[in-house]
Amino acid sequence: MHEQGKITALIVFGTRPEAIKMCPLVKEFKTRSKINTKVCVTAQHREMLDQVLKLFDVEPDYDLDIMQREQSLYDITAKTLCGFQRVLEDCKPDIVLVHGDTTTAFASSVASLYMQIPVGHVEAGLRTHNIYSPFPEEYNRQAISLVAKYHFSPTQMARYNLRMEGRASESIYVTGNTGIDALKTTVRCDFHSDYIDWAQNSRLLVMTAHRRENIGDPMRSMFRAVRRVVDMYGDVKLIYPIHKNPVVRKLAHEMLSDNPRIKLIEPMEVDEFHNLINAAFFILTDSGGIQEEAPSLGKPVLVMRDTTERPEGLEAGTLRLVGTDEQIIFYACRQLLDDPEEYKKMSTARNPYGDGSASARIADVIERML
Ligand code: UD1
Ligand code: UDP
Repeated sequence: MHEQGKITALIVFGTRPEAIKMCPLVKEFKTRSKINTKVCVTAQHREMLDQVLKLFDVEPDYDLDIMQREQSLYDITAKTLCGFQRVLEDCKPDIVLVHGDTTTAFASSVASLYMQIPVGHVEAGLRTHNIYSPFPEEYNRQAISLVAKYHFSPTQMARYNLRMEGRASESIYVTGNTGIDALKTTVRCDFHSDYIDWAQNSRLLVMTAHRRENIGDPMRSMFRAVRRVVDMYGDVKLIYPIHKNPVVRKLAHEMLSDNPRIKLIEPMEVDEFHNLINAAFFILTDSGGIQEEAPSLGKPVLVMRDTTERPEGLEAGTLRLVGTDEQIIFYACRQLLDDPEEYKKMSTARNPYGDGSASARIADVIERML
């Protein structure tokens, strides 16, 4: 503790979803007199990260600026590991906070381990128990759990997973998900956007798709399914803010660009995106974070993945796992569009991911370290 009576907490993140879930924590830490807050971004994502930093008005103390086009896992791991070593040497934190399951989080937790600096893991304990799905995120999150001293779990289920792996009860704190903290600041009933206007008087489907393991044939099959749905229902419109990954963008444009009821757009500012999904009829996604946000908004989600580490949303009835098979996705969409009972079942709002005060709970734990 090099500043008298204060803990230096270094918060590190690099991708869009980490930024959305860590910026509320940065804001909260900065209100605490006992915490000296430092922020390091790896910029594993560049534009998509900067969008979030701007919205939340967070200025990093360190920026590794590692992103390169079509980067490999080796690139991200090596650049983060070595870059973060220099940051640790300069900053000398008492604790490093990492988030979730990205390669930024994995490599920065390993760099911290090498200097024996304690790690706090935010969104700890999510599991599919299949290290190839999602890939490489399931491996990353399990590896971080081995390194972390403090585990901040969003739900009791996540805590249970960690207990089953032998993590000590007193090292796990159930806080809720900081993503809900963010959502509480963005969704407004008077939010106005041209996209919401464009979808007036139609049933709006919002899609996102980017997962590494879905790129190629699975993604082709997902896109064929949604294309058939929009072609078939004259009152359905689709908005797809495409991830910046050039491989995903190329495929989306090849397969989806020539229907006027489909809008392929740039990644949206997070407040605009949250309000867009709030206006949607239902959502199709392979994203992790959207599975947590949708139950809060009472929006049905078809999850285009074979596994999910978010069973709470399945239990709440808001999520349905449909995989990547064209026919299964097509019929699941048709069921939601044609069967009001099924739609009602899935759109009952129940939020298992906390009350929007997760960041405050984490800050309380860090202050108690003093
Ligand atoms: C990463 C995370 C994944 C998370 C996702 C969120 C890993 C291994 N994967 O995957 O867990 O779900 O972020 O979106 O950590 N790109 C840009 N600009 C940007 C962002 C990305 O051009 O702002 C392009 C680059 O060409 C980059 C590519 O997208 O090489 C892929 O980015 P990368 O971080 O490697 O993988 P994601 O699929 O985004
Ligand atoms: N999101 C956003 N703009 C978009 C699409 C998504 O701000 O155009 C937000 C979304 O609300 C969620 C997060 O990005 O909070 C999810 O990020 P992503 O799907 O990239 O990653 P994952 O959650 O799968 O790791």
